[in-house]
Amino acid sequence: MNLIIEQTLEAWAEAAARVVADQLKRKPESVLGLATGDTTAHLHDALVRLAQNGDVDFSQAATFQVDEYAGLARENPASCYARMDEQLFKHVPLRREHIHFPEAQWDSLSAACDRYEALIQQYGGIDLQVLGIGHNGHIGFNEPGTPFESRTHVAAIAPHTVNAKAGLFGSANNVPRWGITLGIGTIMEARAIVLMANGSAKAEIMRRALQGPVTPEVPASVLQRHPNVWVVVDGEAGRLLK
Ligand code: GLP
Repeated sequence: MNLIIEQTLEAWAEAAARVVADQLKRKPESVLGLATGDTTAHLHDALVRLAQNGDVDFSQAATFQVDEYAGLARENPASCYARMDEQLFKHVPLRREHIHFPEAQWDSLSAACDRYEALIQQYGGIDLQVLGIGHNGHIGFNEPGTPFESRTHVAAIAPHTVNAKAGLFGSANNVPRWGITLGIGTIMEARAIVLMANGSAKAEIMRRALQGPVTPEVPASVLQRHPNVWVVVDGEAGRLLK
């Protein structure tokens, strides 16, 4: 596990962006797994800055989003799609046909999950998966208790996560109760993973995820078993890490 701790928010986001940029330098046609959230919004800003300076090239890359809320139209500003579009896709030369999201608006969600898995395989698998972490240790929408071998699936969003996302949707009542997420098994097949966290509210869960027992009760703890993980934290989120 490679641990990067940066004291300022700017240096932290830049460090994570460098991991993505290096991946694209090594393999311009990389398949990136991306994640939406307040955390990764900083990464996306940093990537846009690097792209504007010619320090990263997305023109041959493909992306798969780790999750999406079920039943939410893409146009809804709270959807993962709309947020990613606003933060990253509009600003870098990623080809639209290579941007992939779970088809979470479909009636037949389980068929959509299977198609998503198959499409990832067609692209040769994910080279680099970016992840944020929930306060309860979730990755994607894999909430505590999700089996480590899970594949892309429809997941119930835990009450804890519903409350954490209330601001985004105006109130907890408006937060969708279901999402489609890459499974933990799918995430673990990525060739490399970047786990990002910032702020003191994430310090304790980062300690549990990285230095506690590996258990489905803390989904991110599974990353201890992955051979190629970058953990990029700011000073506050990293303050309990040894
Ligand atoms: C959400 C998403 C995750 C994200 C996490 C952290 O529920 N499903 O993909 O990484 O929560 O979000 P934030 O960065 O806003 O704290």
